[in-house]
Amino acid sequence: MEKQKPRVYVTRIIAEKALNLLATECEMKLWEGAMPPPREVLLEAVREIDGLVSLLTDKVDEELLKQALNLRVVSNVAVGYDNIDVNAATRHGIPIGNTPGVLTETTADLTFALMMAAARRLGESERYIRDGKWQTWDPTALLGVDIFGATLGIIGMGRIGQAVAKRARGFEMHVIYCGGGHGYQSQLIGATRREMDELLRESDFVSIHCPLTPDTHHLIGERELGMMKPTAILVNTARGGIVDPKALNTALKNKQIGYAALDVTEPEPIHLDDPLLTLDNCLIVPHIGSASVRTREKMAMMAVENLLAGLKGERLPHCVNPTVYNR
Ligand code: GLV
Repeated sequence: MEKQKPRVYVTRIIAEKALNLLATECEMKLWEGAMPPPREVLLEAVREIDGLVSLLTDKVDEELLKQALNLRVVSNVAVGYDNIDVNAATRHGIPIGNTPGVLTETTADLTFALMMAAARRLGESERYIRDGKWQTWDPTALLGVDIFGATLGIIGMGRIGQAVAKRARGFEMHVIYCGGGHGYQSQLIGATRREMDELLRESDFVSIHCPLTPDTHHLIGERELGMMKPTAILVNTARGGIVDPKALNTALKNKQIGYAALDVTEPEPIHLDDPLLTLDNCLIVPHIGSASVRTREKMAMMAVENLLAGLKGERLPHCVNPTVYNR
């Protein structure tokens, strides 16, 4: 008799190559909606499954894990995993996979794109044309700030922070950083450590690259924004919750800082009546840090590799809670 294939649930359409691989190895159920599966659908689906492929829009918590009696692995298609209660998963003996490394350069590219777009006011410039304001070459219109030679402060010198720092060298930026990282080699990247407050005071650009945890929630609030230069540009490609959006709105409105360029917001998606969307000095894009065709395929394949390893009872190649194996 043929051995029964493991049952897996995939919460959204991901790269075809990854879905094809899953479909050959597993009995796969795929949520095909453009929006994430509603909570009650997900809670029902996990009752039957051995493996879950989740996205950062799916909450994996105690309530879900309690229902998932056969669940052996959760594989998140993201490097970040603040959507998952990792401690609860560890208590339930469930390894959690993520997708580090493959999206580093793509996210660093977007960080630079945002830095440059904010510095040179690209969003406003484009609106200027569409609004019919381009009458002549104007020596005083749409003046921005220089990136070349400016000071870049990186909060969180992990993989992505380091990739941003490498790009900054090409612009002869002075790079300072705070926070830890993975195998950081400061001499190779040429960045200098600072205390967070010093970094905020000295930087022309502040770029956030730390994970969202209870410790980093609203890490950048009124006090921190108040320390930044009035011309400073804040870039966030990490998680929206690291910046207090009310404090940011006040700081931008009162020109306490120059500009913000955000790939991530709190909440996501940002509400259409959010005051940040009314500000000329705020550029917002919809969480597209890893959104290149190649990178999204790599992430999906990595997530499937994690899942298949977990289903076979092997160690996940990329596991965020390795202590689960000490049990
Ligand atoms: C995206 O935000 C990710 O964590 O991969």
